[in-house]
Amino acid sequence: MLRNLISTFVLLFAASLVVASISRPEEPPRGDPEAGRAAATTCIACHGNDGRGIGPEYPNLGGQHFSYLLRQMRAFHSGDRQATLMMGQVEHLTEQQLKDISAFYAEQPIAEGTAEAADDVLEFGERIYRAGLPDKGVAACIGCHSPSGRGNGPAAFPMLTGQPERYIVLQLRAYRDGERETDAHMGGVMRGVAQNMNDREIEAVAAYVRGLH
Ligand code: HEC
Ligand code: HEC
Repeated sequence: MLRNLISTFVLLFAASLVVASISRPEEPPRGDPEAGRAAATTCIACHGNDGRGIGPEYPNLGGQHFSYLLRQMRAFHSGDRQATLMMGQVEHLTEQQLKDISAFYAEQPIAEGTAEAADDVLEFGERIYRAGLPDKGVAACIGCHSPSGRGNGPAAFPMLTGQPERYIVLQLRAYRDGERETDAHMGGVMRGVAQNMNDREIEAVAAYVRGLH
């Protein structure tokens, strides 16, 4: 009797899980890329027509993950991420517009780059990317940013592929020096990675990332 009751309970429980997973509401809409294109006209001056940054300190946005873009836009909006040139760029936008613009850039093509540094620098950079610097407690980048540098959308690990070398250097230094704290909700993961890297290591890995795809 008791066994029957328990097995009925288990069955009911399992059935309720199935129903719950079927009836789970869909993800909220991610934003409308066409509305995003219209709202992003002021961004073209620095991020190009399709999200390709116009200079060495301007990040490419094309093909970047929606989840990551939205988080950064919110951080600029709230002031949690500060950058002189981004000041005043997104403050007037609504949450819906932040989503629309993120959806627009996520759909644009990835701007791949070509590595230009000397071979020994690129080899050193590749080693750091793939294996980290175990003696210094620097984790391998590959684990989160993926072998091709495409990152991980669901986890909001950004794509690094093709980013300008100078932009990567500046961001790694900003994490290292505690100036960029947008990783706070992830336990300060990038500050942890960068804190033991010297400039030579940062420059090497940035040079490697530039041509990674
Ligand atoms: C005057 C130049 C300029 C304009 C205009 C501009 N940006 Fe930027 N943007 C930058 C720079 C420079 C950075 C890098 C900031 C840093 O060093 O942290 C940046 C960074 C970003 C990032 C973070 C990218 C990353 O990989 O973390 C996003 C997202 C972004 N901008 C979106 C926008 C949007 C959307 C607009 C228009 C509403 C816009 N930007 C307008 C210069 C500009
Ligand atoms: C444990 C996961 C993890 C590891 C390991 C890791 N990263 Fe990251 N990285 C992240 C996350 C998460 C972010 C976004 C944090 C934020 O929102 O500021 C990020 C952001 C970055 C950014 C900023 C991108 C942009 O567009 O502004 C750069 C550059 C970067 N990582 C380079 C590296 C390099 C180089 C290594 C290896 C030395 C590395 N990361 C190792 C998870 C990781």
